[in-house]
Amino acid sequence: MNEPIQGTSEQVAAYTGTGGAEPVRTLLVEDEPNMVRTLTKILERRGHQVESAANGKEALVRLEEGAYDLVITDLNMPVMNGLDLLREMRERGLEAAVIVLTGYGTIQSAVEALKLGAGDYLIKPCHPDELLLAVSRLLELRNLKREVRLLRREMRERARFGEIIGRSAAMREVYKIIEAVSQNKSNVLIHGEPGTGKELVARTIHERGPWRERPFVAVNCGALSETLLESQLFGHRRGAFTGAVRDHEGVFQAANGGTLFLDEVTEIPLPLQVKFLRAIQEREVTPLGSTRPIKVDVRLVAATNRDVEEAVRRGTFRNDLYYRLNVVAIHLPPLRERPEDIPLLVEHFVQRFSRDYGVEPKRVTPAAMDRLLAYQWPGNIRELQNTIERAFALSRAPEIGVEDLPERILRQASGLAEETPQPSDEFSILPLAELERRAIVAALAHTRGNKSEAARLLGIERQRLYRKMEKYGLR
Ligand SMILES: Nc1ncnc2c1ncn2[C@@H]1O[C@H](COP(=O)(O)OP(=O)(O)OP(=O)(O)O)[C@@H](O)[C@H]1O
Ligand SMILES: [Mg+2]
Repeated sequence: MNEPIQGTSEQVAAYTGTGGAEPVRTLLVEDEPNMVRTLTKILERRGHQVESAANGKEALVRLEEGAYDLVITDLNMPVMNGLDLLREMRERGLEAAVIVLTGYGTIQSAVEALKLGAGDYLIKPCHPDELLLAVSRLLELRNLKREVRLLRREMRERARFGEIIGRSAAMREVYKIIEAVSQNKSNVLIHGEPGTGKELVARTIHERGPWRERPFVAVNCGALSETLLESQLFGHRRGAFTGAVRDHEGVFQAANGGTLFLDEVTEIPLPLQVKFLRAIQEREVTPLGSTRPIKVDVRLVAATNRDVEEAVRRGTFRNDLYYRLNVVAIHLPPLRERPEDIPLLVEHFVQRFSRDYGVEPKRVTPAAMDRLLAYQWPGNIRELQNTIERAFALSRAPEIGVEDLPERILRQASGLAEETPQPSDEFSILPLAELERRAIVAALAHTRGNKSEAARLLGIERQRLYRKMEKYGLR
């Protein structure tokens, strides 16, 4: 067991393979057949899938053809030696963990091999344990690297969910709910201020679900008179009311098998709410002027920017209907409560409108970004989207500067932010201290001077914020 590897096969008999889920694909680059046999046995016992090449040149051919996890190479070989093999692998971008196993080790060749990307350097004769330790260390490192890559990708993806942009904790919570609810058919009630993305979320729920091929139908309950809304929802027969010249299919039927999106749901008049509740409970609708109910199967996603519980208390919205609709509740936070999403959204809309307008993406100057961060966004994302589009529509300049922002944003965002010296727009790189000062000014402006809140946004302790404010002479 403690005998060095010397090309005899008996000594490996004691090794038992651990056998991972997937075999490690290993390439031995070695010109001594005995050595190849011994190493192959050792590695196969550990669950490796082993192939061999007699020199560097042959190894390169194999590496180009198939993916290997691990290469164990000799240094002195005819045709192409180990160092040249390493050099070539690097140049061709061939990725595999490499262990050099040589009988002629020198400090120089070791340094050179490690420089060229070898993960370890062992001298023959070496103990099987020593080799296996090096192997497992390298493979672990490779797995860690892979995991980091996956996590990085996941983090990038967390910044968006389909078409929905945002990486704030509040939005990530929303993504989780969408993901879960899209797989079942529970009714969903989305609450959020104007322009927070209620309809976008409703569509995303539909598109992520197994019913995505079925229709998504949206109806605005606030825009129509009672009769018209009733006919919109349930349909009507010809002659059901003046103007009903032919049969009409309601949205419940149109959305059958899919999703019905009810915007401004609290605006449904009370008498209609009773019929609506019945339709949900019985899973059938009776068109106006008809006595024959029709079976329907829809998922309801309702949206409102009102306080529904308040409407229930006031008696303008039925409690039983509220409970039917509010099986899953999604609250979309206003943009001012998640300013960390503003730069992402700005970037997203800059990309979108540069495509729409057929121009290069514009750079947003730091001063303009300060203003966008400090503004309260009553119209939320729709308002931000319009603001960026306006800049594309009104100016051909390669940048969006303060002068490209509408008056109301400049007016509201002034105050603390006003103290920020206007950066000369030629310089986008600022000293770190200046960046820090600006971040603090923007956070204070955004929170209207609330230091605890500003500290939270900045991700630092309040005490630390005080010290920094003192340092930068901010009151
Ligand atoms: N998180 C987001 N990421 C990217 N775009 C968004 C996001 N939220 C909203 N938008 C975009 O902003 C606009 C407004 O969104 P949407 O119509 O879904 O909002 P809403 O809450 O339904 O608004 P309203 O209350 O006015 O009906 C749309 O163009 C939408 O694509
Ligand atoms: Mg809407």
